[in-house]
Amino acid sequence: MSQHLLVTGGCGFIGSNFIRFVLEQRPDWQITNLDSLTYSGNGENLADVADLDQYHFVHGDIRDDELVKQLIEKTDAIIHFAAESHVDRSILDSKPFIESNVLGTQVLLDAARRKEDYRFIHISTDEVYGDLPLDRPDLLFTEDSPICTHSPYSASKAASDLLVGAYHHTFGLNMNITRCSNNFGPYQFPEKVIPLFVTNLIENEKVPLYGDGSNIRDWLHVIDHCEAILAVFEKGTSGEVYNISGNNERSNLELTGAILDAMGKGKDMIRPVEDRLGHDRRYAIDASKIKTQLGWEPTRSAWPQALEQTVQWYITHATWWQRVKTGEYRTYYQKQYG
Ligand SMILES: NC(=O)c1ccc[n+]([C@@H]2O[C@H](COP(=O)([O-])OP(=O)(O)OC[C@H]3O[C@@H](n4cnc5c(N)ncnc54)[C@H](O)[C@@H]3O)[C@@H](O)[C@H]2O)c1
Repeated sequence: MSQHLLVTGGCGFIGSNFIRFVLEQRPDWQITNLDSLTYSGNGENLADVADLDQYHFVHGDIRDDELVKQLIEKTDAIIHFAAESHVDRSILDSKPFIESNVLGTQVLLDAARRKEDYRFIHISTDEVYGDLPLDRPDLLFTEDSPICTHSPYSASKAASDLLVGAYHHTFGLNMNITRCSNNFGPYQFPEKVIPLFVTNLIENEKVPLYGDGSNIRDWLHVIDHCEAILAVFEKGTSGEVYNISGNNERSNLELTGAILDAMGKGKDMIRPVEDRLGHDRRYAIDASKIKTQLGWEPTRSAWPQALEQTVQWYITHATWWQRVKTGEYRTYYQKQYG
C-alpha cells in the first residue's frame, strides 16, 4: 500500500540515505522531510532527489507543535531520525541534546497519538545499553538488556526511547524502536570517526586517535541500516524494540589501521589524543530477533570491501566535505582535539 512518510532529520547522514533508499525501493510513496538544518543537516545530501514530485522538504523544527501537527495530519507514519547525534558535543554542552532529543520527541509523540493508528518508528542507538567489558566477547546487548546510559547523548536518547514506550503503553501508539550500532557510509558529517580520519588523511593531516584505541564498535553500513528500518516499518509488531547490527566488531585501532591501509598511509599519521571522558569500552549487539522475526540481516557491511568503497566515496566527493569542513566545524575541531 502506498504510504506518505514524514521523515525527521532527513538532511542528516542516515536520514538522507534513508530517503534516497525509500524513493528507489518504493517509487509510489511520498516523503515529507522535516529538518531544521542544524550544523549537521545539509540540503546538498539530497540534491539529486530534491526536484522529484514524491519528495517535499519542510525547513522547520520538531519542537514546533503547530507545524508538527499539520505535517502529521497529512502523513501516514513518521520515521524519526532528528537528533543531536554526537557524543563529544554532548560532553561540551548537553542542553541542545535535551531540547531536540527529549522535548522534540515529546512534541512528535503528542501529535502522533492524536491521529488514529499513526505509525511511529523511533530511531535509537545501542549506546542506551551502556557498554560491555573488553575481555568478555561472549556478551552482547539484547533488546532485554537494561538501559544504562553513560553519556549525555545516550541519556537523552534513552529518555526519548522511554517516552515512546510510555506512549505505546498509555495511549496505544503504534510504534517500534530500533537500536543500531555505529553506521558508516556516504554523507556522514566529518566529525564522526570514519569521515574525520579519511578526510584528514586526504588533506595529509594526522588522525586524532582517542586513548589506546582499544575501544570496540560494531560497524553497520548505512544502507543495511536503511533496509532494516524499512523492514521494521513494513513488518514490525507494534510495541517491539529491534536491535540492528553489522556483525562487524572492530577496535578503534583496527579501524584506524584499515583506513590507513585503504589510503596507502603509514602509522606515523596517527596522533594519539587524550581519551574521551567516560569513553564506553565496547558496544556489541545481538540482532537475532530482527533476523528471525523480520528476515533481515546485513549484506553490505563486511570489510574490507565496504570500508574501501566508503573511503573511495569521500575521495571522489571532496567538494561535498570541503564545504562542510569550514567555519563552525573548524572551531569545534580546535576545541575538541587542540
Ligand atoms: N550515526 C550513527 O552511527 C548512529 C548510530 C546509532 C543511532 N543513530 C541515531 O540515528 C539518528 C540519525 O543520526 P545521524 O548520524 O544521521 O545524525 P546527523 O547528526 O547526521 O543528522 C541529524 C539531523 O537531524 C536534524 N535535526 C537536529 N535537531 C533537529 C530539530 N530540533 N528539528 C529538526 N531537525 C533536527 C539535523 O539538522 C540533521 O539533519 C539519530 O537519532 C541518532 O541518534 C545514529
